[in-house]
Amino acid sequence: MLILGIETSCDETSAAVVRDGRQVLANVVWSQTAAHEPYGGVVPEIASRQHTLAITRVARQALAESGMAAGNLDAIAATHGPGLAGALLVGLTFGRSFAWGLGIPFIPVNHLEGHIHSVWLSDQSQSEPPPLPALVLIVSGGHTELVLMRDHGMYQEIGRTRDDAAGEAFDKVGRLLGLPYPGGPSIQDASTRATDPTPFPRAWMAGTHDFSFSGLKTAVLHATYETGSGKSAHSVQGTPFPRAEIASLLSPEQVANFAAGFQDSVVDVLVTKTLEAAAALVPRSIAVVGGVAANGALRERMGECVSVPLFISQPKYSTDNAAMIAAAAYYVPQSDNEIDVAPALSLEAL
Ligand code: KG4
Ligand code: ZN
Repeated sequence: MLILGIETSCDETSAAVVRDGRQVLANVVWSQTAAHEPYGGVVPEIASRQHTLAITRVARQALAESGMAAGNLDAIAATHGPGLAGALLVGLTFGRSFAWGLGIPFIPVNHLEGHIHSVWLSDQSQSEPPPLPALVLIVSGGHTELVLMRDHGMYQEIGRTRDDAAGEAFDKVGRLLGLPYPGGPSIQDASTRATDPTPFPRAWMAGTHDFSFSGLKTAVLHATYETGSGKSAHSVQGTPFPRAEIASLLSPEQVANFAAGFQDSVVDVLVTKTLEAAAALVPRSIAVVGGVAANGALRERMGECVSVPLFISQPKYSTDNAAMIAAAAYYVPQSDNEIDVAPALSLEAL
């Protein structure tokens, strides 16, 4: 079964052709990062308009690279949520119209279910997929969740972030340290130059499988301010915190040490809490998916600490892409030609 997947939930316009939910024939990702970089984050209206500009070209390129004609497709799938409403509408409407024109089913896909299925993707279809039930850590710019996957389409949320997602914390701390957007890859890169990583606290959220990263973000803000200005962060409490210039007061070595200490703290919490949940739930495998799964330190620590079969999405399938959407559509093929976008869609709503 050949599915064209389409992903436009945030700032990547992507189209992919995937055979039988696993074998990626083409996966084209057009990143809008350059359009959003001047603003230090994703601007929703710019995202929608960039998708409109790129979607036809990206879909055409995916078909050409796959060596397939539109007439070979069995179905078309697109993300319908969660994500930015205007951005989702571009992919959903394009995909559904294309499917209608070809007379084939249209399959709406939950973006989080797409991330989960990124570990089913393979460039060589012979590798084994994760045995179920699997404990899945979803770590992206918008989500940090632990999910027990009993089967395709059957998910139980075990824990979630109470405030920022891990990727969001990477992006905000990256901005605070004056590093290029998005913060995740920049912090990973700066960390390699650390001489003495700054220790930061960990929020363990004891007795739960939940996460919290906003306190860590504030700890980095205070530490960078105190190092850069030589003043105690408490001395400016109650007044608007002077943030913009903090990075310019830090040496590259200090930036690297803050970046590495922050990354250590996030990775430690993600790995430790995943292991705790695994001890309680005894899954047959552990999967790590979402943009932050591309992080080298997280991949390494997970690899060292996890004793059940571990599946971490390949970096190219960790960040937003359409191949994972086509994979999820193959395993959960519920077609629907009237569905609306669902910006706040959760996994258990499936
Ligand atoms: O899954 P994704 O592409 O989009 C969402 O669904 O949110 O995740 C994007 C997030 C961003 O916050 C980005 O900073 C983070 O993934 N990210 C990383 C790395 N690469 C991307 N975080 C840490 N280390 C990385 N290497
Ligand atoms: Zn995502």
